[in-house]
Amino acid sequence: MLDLLRNRRSIRRYEPREVEPAFVEQLKEAVLRAPSSRNLRPTRFYFVTDRERLADLAHAKSAYGEWLAKAPLGVVVCGDESVSDCWIEDCSIAAAFLQLMASSLGLGSCWVQIRARMHADGRPAEDHVRESLELPDGLRVLCVVALGHPAERKDAIAADALGWDRIADI
Ligand SMILES: Cc1cc2nc3c(=O)[nH]c(=O)nc-3n(C[C@H](O)[C@H](O)[C@H](O)COP(=O)(O)O)c2cc1C
Repeated sequence: MLDLLRNRRSIRRYEPREVEPAFVEQLKEAVLRAPSSRNLRPTRFYFVTDRERLADLAHAKSAYGEWLAKAPLGVVVCGDESVSDCWIEDCSIAAAFLQLMASSLGLGSCWVQIRARMHADGRPAEDHVRESLELPDGLRVLCVVALGHPAERKDAIAADALGWDRIADI
């Protein structure tokens, strides 16, 4: 497990080839296995491979997401706030499971934050995604996780650069 955690880095450049259907199935199972507060399961996931949709999602916010346009797969991680007040936590755990599952399959991934970010036109990025994907009312959008076969390599972060002073033994 630690090896998996050490080697996971945010990968923003991908080979153009699709993610194999057998891998996609495992990614789907991984998000569904994420725990949720009171087991209310408010999470919803949209697996997007359509190039036009991905290009549109890439411009949901004004910066730091443009590279999503060239990802073979984007998973829009949503939560129904009418189902659980812990939708943000539940979505975050599912997104982390997704990224770790991707790493275990040799895939690269990166989180694109949507909640609390703005579109270039000044409206919330969430509204752009909601309209673009015609999401049901009440569904909130936390992030899009971009995935694909990596076209860039990154070293693991050195252990002594982890900021161990953030931990206290008391
Ligand atoms: C909540 C959250 C939001 C993030 N949003 C973005 C984003 O919008 N765009 C982006 O390129 N990376 C985003 N990232 C990736 C971080 O920049 C990245 O995890 C961080 O720089 C550490 O690098 P590493 O993942 O390679 O260890 C986000 C990560 C998290 C956890």
